Amino acid sequence: MEAVIQKASVLVEALPYIRKFEGKTVVVKYGGSAMTDPRIRTSTAEDVVLMKYVGMNPIVVHGGGPAINGMLKRLALESKFHQGRRITDDAAIEVVEMVLAGSVNKDIVTLLNQAGGQAVGLSGKDANLLHASKIVFEDGSDIGHVGQIVNVHVRILNVLCAAGIIPVIAPIATDSEGGTWNINADTAAGEVAAALQAEKLVFLTDTPGVLRDKDDPDTLIHHLRCGELAQLTREGIVAGGMIPKIDACIKALDSGVSRTHIIDGRVPHALLLEFFTDKGLGTLVTL
Ligand SMILES: Nc1ncnc2c1ncn2[C@@H]1O[C@H](COP(=O)(O)OP(=O)(O)OP(=O)(O)O)[C@@H](O)[C@H]1O
Ligand SMILES: [Mg+2]
Repeated sequence: MEAVIQKASVLVEALPYIRKFEGKTVVVKYGGSAMTDPRIRTSTAEDVVLMKYVGMNPIVVHGGGPAINGMLKRLALESKFHQGRRITDDAAIEVVEMVLAGSVNKDIVTLLNQAGGQAVGLSGKDANLLHASKIVFEDGSDIGHVGQIVNVHVRILNVLCAAGIIPVIAPIATDSEGGTWNINADTAAGEVAAALQAEKLVFLTDTPGVLRDKDDPDTLIHHLRCGELAQLTREGIVAGGMIPKIDACIKALDSGVSRTHIIDGRVPHALLLEFFTDKGLGTLVTL
């Protein structure tokens, strides 16, 4: 009996959060590094579907670094990086688009649908969702088809959400000439959250959050303010894959998103714990 009552109290604890987020748009960046364990993939999908059923409008933006590396390797193409960004030549962009908008996107759509949701996958090409221009480096390096977002046409997202559908976005963008651009998934998530003025932006990744020492989980920073972020990057505390997340948090916060979180996507039901309980997980980033 005790256990049953305990279950009821867990549900009641969620009530104020369910009320708070009813009808609100939330963007979830699902990192490629947090996609490896099949059990966790299922629990993540269950969380997103539950969020939809209790009245939120979740939108998923996914990465897929490990899957792209795997396919490049199978095709005997090299994975090359410049300042943390993938050098994307003509051969690589073909693979990046096939893997992200094809296999990874459809895998996530399938998981969400199996968990009882209705998910639709799209890339930035669909309904002109994401338009980009080439990233130009100060040192003149050319890294190919790597773009920065110049425009987000949110109409299709609003149409899908209103119809009860969970949009799942692959971070590929186009331009007015019909080009194909590889966009960092964190950047895409930040831009989508900003354009939608989302309530929250959550990054599911493969680390407990922003760590002072990235190899020591006990050094988790629970709350970061925008003003502190530049210093952390300068000191090299925030590096590699964490840099575009931090930049995306700043972009989203500047555009009116009130809270951004970087949490451990390897923890079962991390999203439910984040949204529906009193326990804050990972790192909260605010203005
Ligand atoms: N201060 C820091 N705290 C925590 N992680 C950090 C920090 N600085 C750098 N990192 C690195 O950032 C990584 C997370 O970014 P990464 O790009 O690897 O994953 P992702 O963005 O979740 O996945 P994907 O790029 O496939 O979408 C961590 O695994 C860690 O190595
Ligand atoms: Mg990344």
